[in-house]
Amino acid sequence: MRRNASLCMVAVALPWAAAQSTTPASSPPLSTSSSPALASGTPIPVIGVKTGIDKVTGKPPARLNINGLWAKGGAQWNLYILALSELQALNETDESSYFAIAGIHGFPHSAWNGVGHVDGAPSNTGFCPHGELLFTTWHRPYVALYEQILVARAVEIASRYPPGMLPEYLAAAESLRAPYWDWAMNPTLPPAANKINMTVWAPEGPKTIPNPLYTYVYQRPEVQQGFGGWLTSRPQTFRCLGSGGVLNNATESNDGLLLSARDLTGSVYDIFTRVNTFDGMRSSSFENPHNLIHIRSACNGTMSDINWSAFEPLFMLHHCNVDRLVAMWQMINYNNSMFTGNISSNGQFGTPKGTVITADSPLKPFFRGPSATNDNTTAGGPLEFHTSNTVANISVFGYTYPELPDWNLPAKARAEQVKAKVNALYGNKAGDDGATTLDTGPLNRMGKGKIMNYWVVEMSVERAELAGLLPATVSLFIKGETIGRMSLLGMPCEGVETQEVPVQDVKVGNGTLKDMDRGSVVHYLLNEVGVGVTGADGSELSVANLPSLGVVVLGMEYSPRTNETSFPLFNGKVMRWPVEVRQDLGMKRRRRTVVRM
Ligand SMILES: *[C@@H]1O[C@H](CO)[C@@H](O)[C@H](O)[C@H]1NC(C)=O
Ligand SMILES: *[C@@H]1O[C@H](CO)[C@@H](O)[C@H](O)[C@H]1NC(C)=O
Ligand SMILES: *[C@@H]1O[C@H](CO)[C@@H](O)[C@H](O)[C@H]1NC(C)=O
Ligand SMILES: *[C@@H]1O[C@H](CO)[C@@H](O)[C@H](O)[C@H]1NC(C)=O
Ligand SMILES: *[C@@H]1O[C@H](CO)[C@@H](O)[C@H](O)[C@H]1NC(C)=O
Ligand SMILES: *[C@@H]1O[C@H](CO)[C@@H](O)[C@H](O)[C@H]1NC(C)=O
Ligand SMILES: *[C@@H]1O[C@H](CO)[C@@H](O)[C@H](O)[C@H]1NC(C)=O
Ligand SMILES: *[C@@H]1O[C@H](CO)[C@@H](O)[C@H](O)[C@H]1NC(C)=O
Ligand SMILES: *[C@@H]1O[C@H](CO)[C@@H](O)[C@H](O)[C@H]1NC(C)=O
Ligand SMILES: *[C@@H]1O[C@H](CO)[C@@H](O)[C@H](O)[C@H]1NC(C)=O
Ligand SMILES: *[C@@H]1O[C@H](CO)[C@@H](O)[C@H](O)[C@H]1NC(C)=O
Repeated sequence: MRRNASLCMVAVALPWAAAQSTTPASSPPLSTSSSPALASGTPIPVIGVKTGIDKVTGKPPARLNINGLWAKGGAQWNLYILALSELQALNETDESSYFAIAGIHGFPHSAWNGVGHVDGAPSNTGFCPHGELLFTTWHRPYVALYEQILVARAVEIASRYPPGMLPEYLAAAESLRAPYWDWAMNPTLPPAANKINMTVWAPEGPKTIPNPLYTYVYQRPEVQQGFGGWLTSRPQTFRCLGSGGVLNNATESNDGLLLSARDLTGSVYDIFTRVNTFDGMRSSSFENPHNLIHIRSACNGTMSDINWSAFEPLFMLHHCNVDRLVAMWQMINYNNSMFTGNISSNGQFGTPKGTVITADSPLKPFFRGPSATNDNTTAGGPLEFHTSNTVANISVFGYTYPELPDWNLPAKARAEQVKAKVNALYGNKAGDDGATTLDTGPLNRMGKGKIMNYWVVEMSVERAELAGLLPATVSLFIKGETIGRMSLLGMPCEGVETQEVPVQDVKVGNGTLKDMDRGSVVHYLLNEVGVGVTGADGSELSVANLPSLGVVVLGMEYSPRTNETSFPLFNGKVMRWPVEVRQDLGMKRRRRTVVRM
């Protein structure tokens, strides 16, 4: 079943969303090429941050974990909060306002930085690519753009502090970078994002302001009335709505996130250890746990809808972390750190569907700068777009991450250091931060000389069959217990989505699957695996209506890692056993052929 992209999001009447059917046509475009920033003819290039870089070593400051940044407090925290708050207060027509930057991703589906819609491209979507290899590379300059505007604002605020505080605040601002939320390490909302107000030391002294990490209040009435989507009736971003009319119920968000702890940490470690070429991210990518965060962190609030999600303050914290995982992965897989083939675009605001995309294709609307490290265009010459290749190395943007060693080490030594960090952070999480006691690390155990079996269940579905029901979640059950989830955001609306769920540590009797012989594992999984699908409104869908839904048991072999700096080594052999798809357990079974992709 193939459907036209425009039918992707058939209006779903959600019982709790006050019906308000403003059509897109009735909303004027918010951001146009006639905006003030462009009238001067100087588009904003994405060059990252050039301040705070060590003059001797050339080492840029690290983006930091939001929880650590908050715990430390002081100048950098104050500046971060004040800068974000001021960006949110900028007129939404300003190209560098919080609204305009967020608006690149989805709504208002209009031009940014002078880059607009092109003939043949879909007009009911923003610039962000999802469900394709560009997902990773596009979001890198996106976060870098946000960071460059945020830090510039922080530097400006720092200059307003009284002389006694000025040097400390200027230094703190120059080395400020966008913080990240490591949901694979600690799958609960950053506590700082749950506070309604924030007290900070501003240039004029201590003051309490609405916390810019809690919510963004749209300024313009057009937005408050919406663009025709289902979040229209809300004047501001929101997460899980508490029973008492609370905007963001953190307990509910955290309950949902903790339910997914195994999926988050387990799949992150699984991707680090099993995917060793960028092209391999086609079937198993950080995009999968990323999707889960969009859906789990906010019930069905702003974060779960691609048209709106970038307005949610959690968005940049989340995407900064995705970028960090990718940067770590790239340092480990330094010889295969960018894709080499071509793909067909799913279609975005500036790119027609079906456009052939390579690593040299433009990442619209992000221009490269006339800057030495970043571009060869001469100042004043025409700007070119960033491409996946121009953003392949994070060093062009002037930041690093705590887990990344200096570039001056040999590539192999760098890779080993990052592997050691991955092993420590995500390999065996049993109890190391109190947030979870899940043991996600059978792959992580050391061993010598023995070949081990590794088990994964692969789920796949054609998104077009879920038209009108996205975002949706496909859950994998074994004996009624949830083992993993595939989260499908609202976009793209067609194409096959695949998710591999590691099942190595599923308990059977008094052991786990990894302790059983191959025949028994296959027999067990073929009999016990079931799936359940929930749509956007949380209702259960019948798998009988999803003929494309496929479930396959994959068996692999690996040699366990032998030291702290290595990963388990897979020998490339993959055995496949298609499973009859059944609705959870106990439901009527039906025979079907699983289509290989
Ligand atoms: C924002 O800018 C627009 C266009 O310059 C102007 O019409 C509008 O009044 C401004 N809004 C606010 C709240 O200042
Ligand atoms: C937040 O600050 C506002 C304005 O100062 C105040 O009215 C409100 O009570 C504060 N809310 C909380 C939860 O502290
Ligand atoms: C938040 O959610 C929790 C768990 O569902 C619930 O117990 C609590 O009452 C909610 N709080 C508010 C203020 O709605
Ligand atoms: C990486 O590539 C370089 C040059 O192409 C090659 O010499 C080296 O052996 C490769 N390293 C690995 C680990 O594949
Ligand atoms: C895309 O890749 C295919 C297969 O590798 C190749 O035949 C084709 O020439 C490529 N197309 C472009 C435009 O690069
Ligand atoms: C400069 O950019 C142009 C256009 O992208 C490209 O063709 C050329 O190879 C680049 N030159 C250098 C030295 O990178
Ligand atoms: C990334 O850039 C740094 C700094 O210019 C350089 O030392 C390093 O070799 C680059 N890494 C790769 C993989 O190209
Ligand atoms: C985004 O909103 C447009 C309406 O302007 C709608 O056609 C489209 O389906 C929405 N996309 C998603 C992913 O919900
Ligand atoms: C549980 O462990 C005991 C002792 O190791 C063993 O004899 C028994 O067969 C195991 N039971 C199952 C169901 O695996
Ligand atoms: C969406 O919100 C409604 C009302 O709060 C709730 O009943 C439903 O379960 C939620 N859906 C999901 C997927 O969380
Ligand atoms: C760790 O193990 C890997 C793979 O077995 C090996 O290449 C590497 O040299 C080892 N490192 C140390 C420090 O022993």
